[in-house]
Amino acid sequence: MSPVLRLALLLSGLCLGLARLACGAAEPGALRFETDVRPFLTQHCVKCHGERKQAGKLALHQLDGSLTSEKAREIWARVAEKLWLGEMPPEDEPHPSPHASGRVVNWLTAEFARAGHRLVPPPALELPGGGNRVSHETLFTTNTVPGTPPPATAARLWRISPQIYDELLRSEVGKNARGVTQPFSTLTGEGFKDFASGFTVDEPTTSLLLRNADAIVAAQTRFSYEDGKFKGAGNTPRELVSLMDTNAPPTDAQIRAALERQFKLVLRREPTAEERTRFTAFMRRNIADSGQVTGVRTALAAVLLLPEAIFRIELGAGKPDAHGRRLLSPRELAGALSFALTDRPPDRTLQGALDKGQFAASRESAANEVRRMLADDSLAKPRILRFFREFFGYPHATEVFKDDKENKDHEARVLVSDTDRLVEFFLAQDRDVFRELLTTRKAFVNFAVDTKKKTPKRAFDGKKDIHRAYGLPAGWSWTAEQPVELDGQHAGILTQPSWLVAFSMNFDNHPITRGKWVRERLLGGTVPDLPITVDAQLPNAPEQTLRQRLEGTKAEYCWQCHQRMNPLGMPFEAFDHFGRARTTERVQDKAATAANVDKKGRALGPVFKEAPLNTRSVVALTGDARLDGEVADPLALIHKLAGSERVRQVFVRHAFRYWLGRNETLADAPVLQAADQAYVGSGGSFKALLVSLLTSDAFLYRVNPASPTASVTTAKP
Ligand code: HEC
Ligand code: HEC
Repeated sequence: MSPVLRLALLLSGLCLGLARLACGAAEPGALRFETDVRPFLTQHCVKCHGERKQAGKLALHQLDGSLTSEKAREIWARVAEKLWLGEMPPEDEPHPSPHASGRVVNWLTAEFARAGHRLVPPPALELPGGGNRVSHETLFTTNTVPGTPPPATAARLWRISPQIYDELLRSEVGKNARGVTQPFSTLTGEGFKDFASGFTVDEPTTSLLLRNADAIVAAQTRFSYEDGKFKGAGNTPRELVSLMDTNAPPTDAQIRAALERQFKLVLRREPTAEERTRFTAFMRRNIADSGQVTGVRTALAAVLLLPEAIFRIELGAGKPDAHGRRLLSPRELAGALSFALTDRPPDRTLQGALDKGQFAASRESAANEVRRMLADDSLAKPRILRFFREFFGYPHATEVFKDDKENKDHEARVLVSDTDRLVEFFLAQDRDVFRELLTTRKAFVNFAVDTKKKTPKRAFDGKKDIHRAYGLPAGWSWTAEQPVELDGQHAGILTQPSWLVAFSMNFDNHPITRGKWVRERLLGGTVPDLPITVDAQLPNAPEQTLRQRLEGTKAEYCWQCHQRMNPLGMPFEAFDHFGRARTTERVQDKAATAANVDKKGRALGPVFKEAPLNTRSVVALTGDARLDGEVADPLALIHKLAGSERVRQVFVRHAFRYWLGRNETLADAPVLQAADQAYVGSGGSFKALLVSLLTSDAFLYRVNPASPTASVTTAKP
């Protein structure tokens, strides 16, 4: 049997789960084509997609609400996509309310399910980069958006992240294995890396998983014979390795004990009676087919390949409530909470409570667990810092090549870890966390903590003046008393050299990507992708300032997109592309360069001069009149943003996406508002924000993705 086929069989448990996801009976609900959908199309669409006019070669007046033909489904899927994205009718036409569009999408979702198909939201809405397409105003103005179902997340299997897999390899299970490879990738492109909808387990991943499982089990069952006497290697679980002794073929009791141990190690639970029978038979059959050693190992490896070991299972195994939402089971909830903060399965305390049946699936016990884990300093919670790293994007600094000749003091790795320390510092204070990170003058400078001695030390101990990147004077001497206070040109992470370098080009600033970041991450706006037809190159004109070289993007065609980015990035011209504050910009002096020749008239190289710096800009198209207007410099921009309610709410939206592993929909409005209020009401406690999100209905409840309750209604008015 091919390894892939073998895994496919092993994964049959998963198919059961999927069948449940895909085949759950979907009620068409109370919506009807003749009374709910046709009037909507007549009122909003038929004017342009009817008998007389067929814009985009599309006619909608003849549709009869039947979805049996493929052609009909194809048309309806296109309609659903436009409604989902709020892209039809065109921008300058009166729009139906999100509620009305949402009802049509709900009807369609149910009808597709009835016809045995799944209507999926366009990828743009499911993938991390698409979250901002949901209307901010609608999310934060009414407590519940009319027509939306109560919040819940679609039942799902969420492939474990590379970090969780790494932890498995580091744990008791995989620590002795050799030659294992990370089988999982993460999302590339924009936004958070670990979205539940982002991954499938494809064939290359499958073969890596198989190879790793084989390697792990080989290490778990290493043995030798000394003078013909069987000997299991040290560090191997006795129950497993003892099955390798070919002088003593395994008894049923031994097989049972080995399987129990392996289930405990890998899945942290006992096998069920059904699994015991199935796996025992599987092992016996394998032994008969391929001999004792291989046969036993294959069966033990199979445990590592169970869907439960590869996916975070969040089907909602509890009872349905009045809205058809099902609570996560205690086991599912315990796993979800652990993986929200750590890369490991439940710690001993939670696992213990779970095993004893003392952990109930409820909002209250979730809150207690989150608070306990947050308060436990001995429990590593890498996912929190990872959120800030992904949100701000500063770790990318290490991937931007810089020429040593231009600045010998540049050390991106240290700049990034300094910002990590700053984030951790404000997380520990847990007051006004987001505003502090945007406005603080504090900074860690070349700062690390010795892991053994727990004392501060230099992060980089070579011959580089790392501190120059922070605008500290040449003679500044390193201190263990950190954070230090920077000069008045600094305000938070957007003025930290790590962030400025992360959003820079090799030899220059990058106002376009800086502005794009502000537009998307702080203002919650969107910018259409750079069309592949555009030759995105700035003119090569070293005698011009960067602002002058960007003039070309003001052409009407370019400006429709670039007006959303460039103005928000220009104030950061107050820094150079290593993140150092400056007051003038170095450009080539054309005349002096031309005159710079030797006696024979050969060019001696460029001569530079300092050009005046312009950091002024105009903030526009934010959707919030209080934000729009002129700003003189980066500090004015940053303080304006940091004081904005909308910007704070956009931050909350990002936290929601990261911790729910999906984008928000209009149905999540109450969850987002509660999280925002928890944050504000606690004086800006990030822990309070987390407790709110991790105890929300969206986190606790699952619905069948094929049911109308699960569909998302996200029109942007
Ligand atoms: C004022 C005119 C107008 C109205 C009203 C209008 N559309 Fe359109 N629609 C257009 C035009 C023009 C196009 C083609 C250009 C484009 O795709 O933007 C189009 C394209 C489309 C397409 C894409 C066809 C393709 O190429 O796949 C869909 C789907 C669509 N419309 C659905 C709707 C729906 C549903 C409504 C009602 C909610 C609606 N439209 C209302 C003008 C209109
Ligand atoms: C539909 C939207 C859109 C249009 C139209 C557009 N751009 Fe862009 N452009 C973008 C986006 C988005 C980026 C940022 C890409 C990224 O994230 O690196 C970008 C980036 C750039 C960059 C920087 C490329 C780099 O090195 O990263 C240049 C230069 C540029 N655009 C020039 C132009 C010019 C000139 C035009 C008009 C001829 C134009 N763009 C039209 C969206 C657009």
